[in-house]
Amino acid sequence: MAELARGREHVVATAGEIAPGEHKVVPIGRYGVGVYNVDGRYYAIANYCPHEGGPLCAGRTKGQTVADADRPGGAKEVRPGEFIYCPWHQWGFELATGTTAVKPEWSIRTYPVRVEGDEVIVSA
Ligand code: FES
Repeated sequence: MAELARGREHVVATAGEIAPGEHKVVPIGRYGVGVYNVDGRYYAIANYCPHEGGPLCAGRTKGQTVADADRPGGAKEVRPGEFIYCPWHQWGFELATGTTAVKPEWSIRTYPVRVEGDEVIVSA
């Protein structure tokens, strides 16, 4: 079992529990924390949207749409699964940094995640 820093680190899952493309909301803090597995990389974010307080982790993850003149519609999706979109008004946030292009000064909280042995540990 991993040694935890008291009061700050939380074992939130076993390593195989959150499959790539999936997430889990754990009861840390007032709104909970969403822990995401994106192709084996873990991210943790507050389950709270800074726009109007929506349950951010109930939203869907997708990639980012960028211009590509060679594609039908003139755009393509890149970095699939690396962005979470709020279910209320579809603001998108980058899981890794918590930033949003909608209103850059309103980024969300992110938390460090590490895997130690069979445990996924969030520092929050
Ligand atoms: S509450 Fe999340 S986008 Fe409006």
